[in-house]
Amino acid sequence: MAFEIKICKDEKLIPEICKIVNTVYAAHEADLLYYDEVNTRTNETYIKNLMADSELIVAFLNAKPIGTVKMSKSATLGYRGRNEYREIGQLAVLPEYRGKGYGGQLLKFAINDVESRGLKVVLELVHPQSGDHKEKNFLKTWYGQLGFREVKNYKINRLEMPLFDFGNGETGKDVKCPLNFTIFEKSK
Ligand SMILES: CC(C)(COP(=O)(O)OP(=O)(O)OC[C@H]1O[C@@H](n2cnc3c(N)ncnc32)[C@H](O)[C@@H]1OP(=O)(O)O)[C@@H](O)C(=O)NCCC(=O)NCCS
Repeated sequence: MAFEIKICKDEKLIPEICKIVNTVYAAHEADLLYYDEVNTRTNETYIKNLMADSELIVAFLNAKPIGTVKMSKSATLGYRGRNEYREIGQLAVLPEYRGKGYGGQLLKFAINDVESRGLKVVLELVHPQSGDHKEKNFLKTWYGQLGFREVKNYKINRLEMPLFDFGNGETGKDVKCPLNFTIFEKSK
């Protein structure tokens, strides 16, 4: 099996990559946020812009995209316009390819690319204020193991401002439960 990770600028792949992110997040955050046909995690214009700026990373298995991550200028609260940071996000691996190291390789590729340019990495984690969320708990532990430290936490009971780059301006829907919106920075 030929596995490859690269910065992707192939616009023919935009619909497929967009679908990977949207289907993965709709399932992953089904109990946290309202996702539907309109309120999606990303959209094709956003992916196209990431490609144009060399900010989109894709994992290919036998030339088929199976996962992706972005390393964009950050729109997160407190990070807008701070050019020394890049935000790693939209990390998604198709369910049938998980647990084989591809997600870790995507994340490390993005971290290395950002840090090799002398820039700093920031990322966001949305997780419930109460109750257990197996996948989000795993992510918190995993990010910690990779050297990420929590720098800020916002409690969100309703989305009143564009905290997320959904890419379509649709950020006004209620969250499904009270959420923590935690910002992590990677220490070197
Ligand atoms: C997070 C995600 C990208 C990981 O992809 P993956 O290909 O399964 O990742 P890997 O196989 O590289 O595993 C990464 C690490 O987590 C561990 N792991 C993977 N899945 C796990 C799980 N469900 N529970 C506990 N540990 C898990 C692996 O053992 C590995 O640990 P290691 O680096 O110490 O060896 C994938 O699960 C996914 O797309 N999830 C939904 C979207 C998401 O959570 N995105 C991030 C939102 S902030």
